Amino acid sequence: MKGLVYLGPGKKQLVDRPKPTLLDATDAVVRMCQTTLCGTDLHILKGDLPSVAVGRILGHEGIGVVAEAGTGVSRFHPGDRVLISCITACGKCEYCRRGMPSHCEAGGWILGNTIDGTQAEFVRIPFADTSLYHIPENADEDAMVMLSDILPTGYECGVLNGAVKPGDTVAIIGAGPVGLAALLTTQFFAPANLIVIDLDDHRLEVAKHFGATAVINSTDGRAVETVMAMTAGKGVEVAIEAVGMAATFGLCQDIIGAGGHIANIGVHGASVTLHLEKLWSQNVTITTRLVDAVTTPLLLKMVIAGQLKPKQLITHHFALDDILKAYDTFGNAGRERALKVILTNP
Ligand SMILES: NC(=O)c1ccc[n+]([C@@H]2O[C@H](COP(=O)([O-])OP(=O)(O)OC[C@H]3O[C@@H](n4cnc5c(N)ncnc54)[C@H](O)[C@@H]3O)[C@@H](O)[C@H]2O)c1
Ligand SMILES: [Zn+2]
Ligand SMILES: [Zn+2]
Repeated sequence: MKGLVYLGPGKKQLVDRPKPTLLDATDAVVRMCQTTLCGTDLHILKGDLPSVAVGRILGHEGIGVVAEAGTGVSRFHPGDRVLISCITACGKCEYCRRGMPSHCEAGGWILGNTIDGTQAEFVRIPFADTSLYHIPENADEDAMVMLSDILPTGYECGVLNGAVKPGDTVAIIGAGPVGLAALLTTQFFAPANLIVIDLDDHRLEVAKHFGATAVINSTDGRAVETVMAMTAGKGVEVAIEAVGMAATFGLCQDIIGAGGHIANIGVHGASVTLHLEKLWSQNVTITTRLVDAVTTPLLLKMVIAGQLKPKQLITHHFALDDILKAYDTFGNAGRERALKVILTNP
């Protein structure tokens, strides 16, 4: 089968690999139907994530059909259409029982990280019973792909950790798919003002369409003054960092109001400066989180009910065979006006 393999910083290739087989009774092998690329894959390719070994098949999102299920898998059978969670959960360890499967002792974020991932024709899914979801009849499959990672990530790491409340002013820094997923799901809590900040005018236009009440292009370096002017000098109640850079985490610290929450989502490959000399007295909460994907069932219900419309995040479609072109498009998102790209395995 074909799979997209990481070959060290800046290097990747679509190569032939043996089809994965069941290694444990709790495994399933899934034939991929649709997968996608994530900002995290770009971080991996930059060399930001040393946990990813050379030779790893990337990808932690997608939907498919169960091809084989181990004898210990009771909820899924060959032929079932399934949504793959980016988080593998054993369901039994201390972290899983605490509702924090991102740190599962036998799983967590392993797909496309420490085990081969979904940017391939087939993928082995450990702990299938607690790491897959059935896809409801008549569900829009492209929309389902957005539930593997970006919707739970935006919602859990951004909106829930940011403790968004009705009437809040929320700033989201980064209008990539994850920031936009936070923008869509933060509206469950009726914030009064939703400010989105990015360097890319096209993405900011999309953000307006998705419910931003104000957008700021921070290319001129004046985003802090603009936010302060918009908030009568008080700053925002919630700042959601959805980029993963020192500058954008710094921006969150500069615009957070007293009593506010800074919710970091971004994957950081380098250290950032924490301005405790300014923040110590501001009653500010700073949170970090690796997505747990424990809200997937809730988000799935919202998508099926039509209350959440993640399909609007999809801008491009490619065949899995054209994954290098897809990376080129996603990696030049500004020029290509790309958000999520869907790769289909025919
Ligand atoms: N915590 C988690 O569990 C988790 C899960 C998934 C993704 N992530 C991370 O979330 C982040 C966002 O993911 P994505 O897929 O949306 O990525 P992306 O690269 O598509 O989007 C990032 C956006 O940030 C903007 N940006 C870059 N530099 C900026 C700056 N200086 N000021 C303002 N905007 C700037 C870009 O224009 C882009 O629109 C990434 O760091 C990704 O690795 C974290
Ligand atoms: Zn991801
Ligand atoms: Zn576990």
